[in-house]
Amino acid sequence: MESFRKLFLPLLVQFIAVAVSGVWAKPVTFTEGFTITWADSHVKQLQGGSSIQLILDQSSGSGFASKNKYLFGRVSMKIKLVSGDSAGTVTAFYMNSDTANVRDELDFEFLGNRSGQPYTVQTNVYAKGKGDREQRVNLWFDPAADYHTYSILWNHCHVIFFVDEVPIRVFKNNERRGVAFPTLQPMGVYSTLWEADDWATRGGLEKIDWSKAPFYAYYKEFDIEGCVAGAAPASAAACASNAGNWWEGPAYCQLSAGQARLYRWVRLNHLIYDYCTDKSRYAVLPAECMAGI
Ligand SMILES: *[C@@H]1O[C@H](CO)[C@@H](O)[C@H](O)[C@H]1NC(C)=O
Repeated sequence: MESFRKLFLPLLVQFIAVAVSGVWAKPVTFTEGFTITWADSHVKQLQGGSSIQLILDQSSGSGFASKNKYLFGRVSMKIKLVSGDSAGTVTAFYMNSDTANVRDELDFEFLGNRSGQPYTVQTNVYAKGKGDREQRVNLWFDPAADYHTYSILWNHCHVIFFVDEVPIRVFKNNERRGVAFPTLQPMGVYSTLWEADDWATRGGLEKIDWSKAPFYAYYKEFDIEGCVAGAAPASAAACASNAGNWWEGPAYCQLSAGQARLYRWVRLNHLIYDYCTDKSRYAVLPAECMAGI
């Protein structure tokens, strides 16, 4: 009986939870979870598919995307960015609803730099087609030397971007104040590596050095725990309203004291740009930028 309780019961509970909520509460291998969406020739599966190499050269960039779309959840993967002189390259990890002019999108964009200069992480949030919410932080480690974990938590309370479990950005749900928030459209998970030397590095001043090509970015340990939303509206509705999904729990609705402390540390020491303080861009700051919300 004791072993039944210890071994079988947790499994049963987990099974029921998964069956009820449609959650994928397990790591996803590349082949199970993703398809190549850009340049087969430039995407390599390494170590039997447990890690992925994206390639950028003068002929093409590359990318992959999740097979499913998800409505709320947490997505994370480990990424090792382009090493050496990565100026002009952009490596991205994002979620996107693929719905043209009303799209929702949550972006991590890693902006390369000249050797020895710090990588910049740009995040952006689109809700119902409205974006232009860039924030930038310089990382406190060399993201090309090793794998680090990048995650997006998306629930009814907020979207949080994490780097190695450190929150670098919190975008709160301020729908009741009239600020759009992604709540209705399922999003896919995407990764890409491409050239953007017209803007990426020092505002486009630093150009890509093709003599250093090919450029490589590496991905592994894909973990998508989200509500799989089928094509039918009914299934999306079930995802949106299921309070039983773990990511909707009270612990995920606000930062813990420790997370809040790390978040303040990032804001004080590593934030280099915030659209919320860019008066040259916004004569009247967007509503979500008002203090305290
Ligand atoms: C690149 O390095 C320069 C110089 O240290 C820095 O100002 C800039 O923020 C870095 N990142 C990008 C993307 O330009």
